[in-house]
Amino acid sequence: MEKEFKQILQNRRAINFFNPERDVPEQLLRELVEEATHSPSSFNLQPWNMLVLRDKEEKMRLQKLAMNQPKVSEAPVTLIILADTKAWHKENDALHIVLNHKLQDGELKEEQKDWFFGVCERLYGKSRDSELAFAVKNTAFFAMSLMYAATAKGLQTHPMDGFDHDGVKKEFNIPENYWVPLLMSVGYHADNAEILPVKKRKSYDELVLTFP
Ligand SMILES: Cc1cc2nc3c(=O)[nH]c(=O)nc-3n(C[C@H](O)[C@H](O)[C@H](O)COP(=O)(O)O)c2cc1C
Repeated sequence: MEKEFKQILQNRRAINFFNPERDVPEQLLRELVEEATHSPSSFNLQPWNMLVLRDKEEKMRLQKLAMNQPKVSEAPVTLIILADTKAWHKENDALHIVLNHKLQDGELKEEQKDWFFGVCERLYGKSRDSELAFAVKNTAFFAMSLMYAATAKGLQTHPMDGFDHDGVKKEFNIPENYWVPLLMSVGYHADNAEILPVKKRKSYDELVLTFP
């Protein structure tokens, strides 16, 4: 098990060249997204959403806003990952999906709802920074799980933040409450295209800090 996970960690690479002829079937995409939803999130609020782009013309519109990176349109699927900065807010439908699950599971009682709204407001709604941090940290876990789930299924992915954030929001009519942490292309590696050598990582000693 540990060996398998290590292999998934090592096999996941940001792939530059996708095979445009090899599709990712809808069912496979669904499976990997649903596996990725097992990611942890604050109060299990799951503040992640996404747009799924398969149409070439749509992907080209995105590519133009993403430093013209060819993988955006060459991959059969490119996802616009969305972080919902208001997923904690009591007037957001997204919260009520989660709330209903909590009520059904008995994790929360009807009379505790107002308490729950208050806690969310205090933790995540304090400022624009806290809303953004809440949405993006949780969505990043989801995105990471998505990449590992894809790798485990023999797919390749490429996360990207080289894009015009506000331009993408405007072009795809993305509502105000969403922030776009990354785009992610998903597909199969193009035959014969080179995979770059694994890049060096910081060691344990290089990343652990102490403050006097
Ligand atoms: C949030 C994020 C944004 C990234 N944005 C881009 C990008 O816009 N273009 C690109 O070519 N690579 C992008 N990358 C890929 C990184 O360069 C790559 O993950 C890193 O160099 C390590 O290589 P590896 O993923 O193959 O291990 C991004 C990665 C992450 C996690």
